[in-house]
Amino acid sequence: MAFFTKKQLSEKEHLYKINLINSLSGYKSANLIGSISNEGIENVAVFSSVTHLGSSPPLFGFVLRPTTVPRNTYKNIKETGVFTLNHIHEDIIDDAHHTSAKYPEDISEFKMTNLEAEYKDNFKAPFVKKSPIQLAMKYVEEYEIKANGVLLIVGEIQSVYIADHLLQEDGFVNLSKGKVATINGLNGYAIPNLKTRQKYQRPKK
Ligand SMILES: Cc1cc2nc3c(=O)[nH]c(=O)nc-3n(C[C@H](O)[C@H](O)[C@H](O)COP(=O)(O)O)c2cc1C
Repeated sequence: MAFFTKKQLSEKEHLYKINLINSLSGYKSANLIGSISNEGIENVAVFSSVTHLGSSPPLFGFVLRPTTVPRNTYKNIKETGVFTLNHIHEDIIDDAHHTSAKYPEDISEFKMTNLEAEYKDNFKAPFVKKSPIQLAMKYVEEYEIKANGVLLIVGEIQSVYIADHLLQEDGFVNLSKGKVATINGLNGYAIPNLKTRQKYQRPKK
């Protein structure tokens, strides 16, 4: 097996290092965060760090890179208090990935890709049209990770839209049926196939 110590990792060339480290946490969620500025400029960007923080209240978090350079998603969320999470699916992978390009604040990634903004039920932030799972989120709080200056942004689900064919009777959402993507590393996208659902486990007698 390949083996690296912390010191060897730190001495690797930058791109090699970030490719490697970003692959090591396993498959990650693939979301587009939709937001809008107070001036009405829409923004959409790919994030692979969205994760479940709790169900009651329904909280999700995502990791935001240090705000030492302009972060349009962050600025918009702080201005308006809201954002959307939109799962990336097979048909939009190329455009979703392109949203990581550094466009200035006044240029919307919706204009530079074929992704379409959609507004629903008077929610201020734009959703990504045709995304099979769309979540309206309210900003709750943030934590600075002091070790490296990234922020954990915490948001609460306000409402959820799920394509009918994904939602099963017991509440399970079958992401495979929606051809929802997962992210490997910094630029790998896969469409997983659900293999099994396991029963709730109790200790063996
Ligand atoms: C696959 C992938 C995953 C990413 N995940 C994150 C993430 O979790 N957090 C983050 O701050 N940036 C992440 N980025 C970088 C943002 O997409 C990028 O900084 C983008 O320009 C942010 O747009 P904004 O300035 O309009 O908010 C990711 C980029 C890629 C390609």
